[in-house]
Amino acid sequence: MSINKSSNNISPAWQGFIDSCLACRDCELSQSRQNVVIWRGSIDAPLMIVGEGPGANEDKQGLPFVGRSGELLDTLLRSFELTEDDYHICNIVKCRPPDNRNPREEEARACRRLLTAQIRLVKPKVFLLMGATAYRYFTSGTEGISKVRGKWIESNDYFIMPTYHPAYILRDNRRKPELWQDIYAVRQKLTELGLKEPLSQD
Ligand code: URA
Repeated sequence: MSINKSSNNISPAWQGFIDSCLACRDCELSQSRQNVVIWRGSIDAPLMIVGEGPGANEDKQGLPFVGRSGELLDTLLRSFELTEDDYHICNIVKCRPPDNRNPREEEARACRRLLTAQIRLVKPKVFLLMGATAYRYFTSGTEGISKVRGKWIESNDYFIMPTYHPAYILRDNRRKPELWQDIYAVRQKLTELGLKEPLSQD
């Protein structure tokens, strides 16, 4: 079910979660935010896509990945026949870090309770972690993103795929095939798990 299409179908549990996000003052980022950026896509998707944190466009619109990175991400998702019903997009932190800096460890830690609640509500099977910061804070892994990207991590019955952040690809196009491959692997995993029909050209 996509929230953007049917927000009146929200359950009390979801509403409670949204209210907690909107009321959150657990870290400094809440002081400078325009909006709390919670998600876009479906509220019961098999795939959760996790970025690092909202940028200026996201803070303004209250939706994740709506700037240039989001455009690239959406193009890739569409090319693999993934629609809004298949994914739930969110971030490690829900409020914009000033000057587009990376979220700090204490900010990611403060936001974790909300991300954990979100995962419990969405119940995804597959995660796509966008970039080094999302990988580090989501898994506590210390390896560089170029080492771990493209390799599945299996944990608690979840399948986790770290990959490059689209913003990095926009700066260095040579890595685009790898991002492409990683999203393809995610697409294949959804089919393998019976959560999405096979790609039409496969
Ligand atoms: N980059 C992110 O990591 N998240 C967004 O929502 C936008 C850009």
